[in-house]
Amino acid sequence: MSGTAPDGRELELELELERVRGAVLRAAPDLWRDLPWRETRDPWFVLVSEVMLQQTQAPRVVEPFRRFVARFPTPAACADAGAAEVVRAWAGLGYNRRALNLHRTAVVLVERHLGRVPDDLDALLDLPGIGPYTARAVLAFAYGHATGVVDTNVARVLARAVAGRPLGKVEAQRLADRLVPTGHPWQFNQAMFDLGARCCTARAPRCEACPLAAGCKWAGDPVGSADPAAAYRRRQAAFAGSDRQGRGRLVAALRRAPVAERALADAAGWPDDEPRALRIAGALVDEGIACWQERFLALA
Ligand code: ADE
Repeated sequence: MSGTAPDGRELELELELERVRGAVLRAAPDLWRDLPWRETRDPWFVLVSEVMLQQTQAPRVVEPFRRFVARFPTPAACADAGAAEVVRAWAGLGYNRRALNLHRTAVVLVERHLGRVPDDLDALLDLPGIGPYTARAVLAFAYGHATGVVDTNVARVLARAVAGRPLGKVEAQRLADRLVPTGHPWQFNQAMFDLGARCCTARAPRCEACPLAAGCKWAGDPVGSADPAAAYRRRQAAFAGSDRQGRGRLVAALRRAPVAERALADAAGWPDDEPRALRIAGALVDEGIACWQERFLALA
């Protein structure tokens, strides 16, 4: 390649990217889902929503998001509250460690960033619980940066429709960055989420409704070809009977009131397994979610 003129393959790829870009943007209004965090560009609101969306599906985030930002409308409001209050406000979402990290992040924002969410990738990555995905989501959705926002759903669309093969994290990010139209990063990235949620779903994709079907690499493969996104399917460990289930029950009980040590097993739903309940209680204490007060476990 001459440095200025793209060679044939580059040109072909650029044309393909332009086709995908156009098709996604044109389909965006039809794919659109009304979600409350889409009504704001407030960086704190965007950050809160994206932390909630890390491990919870959008419909389940709607009400907790509304409640949380009404209660903690700024990083300062969140930092001023105790960690226990933030964990309490996290009800309905699970994975409570995220609430603790969000509280720590709020404290860092107040102490080091004048109470604001930084418009800078490295500064965002320094915040507790903020990884490459969430940092880029904040840059694109709050600050309008032309960066790709790649979660599992978007990676699935890219692997199937654009690459036609499994993509590593770095490759997927690079491809997404090339795809994002500079003028419409917000619309494009939101439409990619909608496409992943409505058409290019993990298990039963609705190719007949997909705006990318015409040029989709996977759809063009012989019937029965391996799904390029098969590796992204998270193998969810069974929830029933898991530590996570008992942990969730215990935190729910702690949100109501401290739990006596001898009542922990019942509160965790394992009346015959006190050692397991004590182990979970110990983990909650180690993580700073709970603390012992005499012989009672309470939210920290
Ligand atoms: N998943 C992650 N971020 C999202 C967003 N902004 N809208 C819908 N789903 C999402």
